[in-house]
Amino acid sequence: MSTTQANKIEIIKAPNTKINEVDFENINFGSVFTDHLFECDFKNGEWQNPTIKPYAPFLMDPSSRIFHYGQTIFEGMKAYKDDNNDIWLFRPDENIKRFNTSAVRMAMPEVPEDLFSEGLNQLLKLDEAWIKKGLGNSLYIRPFMIATGFGVVANPSDEYKFMIILSPAKAYYSGEVKVLIAEHYSRAANGGIGAAKTGGNYAGQFYPTTLANKEGFQQVIWTDDATHTKLEEAGTMNVFFRINDTLITAPTSERILDGVTRKSLIDMAKREGINIEVRSILVDELIEGIKNGSLKEIFGAGTAAVVSPIKGFSYKNEYFELPQIENSIALQLKEKLTNIQHKLAEDPFGWTVKI
Ligand code: COI
Repeated sequence: MSTTQANKIEIIKAPNTKINEVDFENINFGSVFTDHLFECDFKNGEWQNPTIKPYAPFLMDPSSRIFHYGQTIFEGMKAYKDDNNDIWLFRPDENIKRFNTSAVRMAMPEVPEDLFSEGLNQLLKLDEAWIKKGLGNSLYIRPFMIATGFGVVANPSDEYKFMIILSPAKAYYSGEVKVLIAEHYSRAANGGIGAAKTGGNYAGQFYPTTLANKEGFQQVIWTDDATHTKLEEAGTMNVFFRINDTLITAPTSERILDGVTRKSLIDMAKREGINIEVRSILVDELIEGIKNGSLKEIFGAGTAAVVSPIKGFSYKNEYFELPQIENSIALQLKEKLTNIQHKLAEDPFGWTVKI
């Protein structure tokens, strides 16, 4: 779809707003949605009918491929409002690029960048009152695509729906985060779909994560499927480990999501002169680090999670608590990142984009 066609978005406004029913200070992550959504259908080999319309349920054929084969992808982004009421996105080009990389892996059509951006920007402008100012506030953006094609034959659909929905958000994790290190279950394997942001990667984690929740852990840190010795990611976020004054995070791979927050923290750490190593990190290094006192911090990084310090981890039925420290690198980087995102500090990287 060309820019001119993408610009012709039909807008159907909701007759009323739900905003006055929302208690913005007490929202569970992802549970409240704004007045409108963006949608566009892929039919006969092209994207058509881009529309912004009231947020509402919609009808689908029970044989649609999404229901049977999980052909779906999504993204997570955030919009922020500054003191001048300007709306800002954080590295939207990275999310659009990753969305289309996921589309290719899941045999789905790519969404043209101008259609994606134009749909998102117009939707944000229409629902701008839902973006609250101030650190800790944001509007979480969930673009997604589903296979809507008719019939239960196991091959790629020929029809798709691309949608963007918006949800006012505060922190994803409100309390402390303790994690369990995977010893048996795996999130992803070489040659698989671990690097794609697709529903199955999340659904596959639900059962082992529920088992971990029952033992008091909020998340699982996944290890490599072949040996379960290398620390990979936590499913809702990438993970960083601080040994002495060096930060370590696993390299992205076919098994690990190329997180936008992860790559931003790596660049910020380099600029701040913090030692950072992107390399495989072994479970054994953590155990050794906790025993000899060199393991200072573990934290998760993701759009929803932002930067989430981890209090402790369990491995082979033994629980290890991280030391209480002053000068947390996690909190330092979180402050710098959120100040950039909220336009409270200079953005030396050019990551923020005004819509
Ligand atoms: C995000 O951080 O945007 C994600 O997609 C993670 C999800 C589990 C909320």
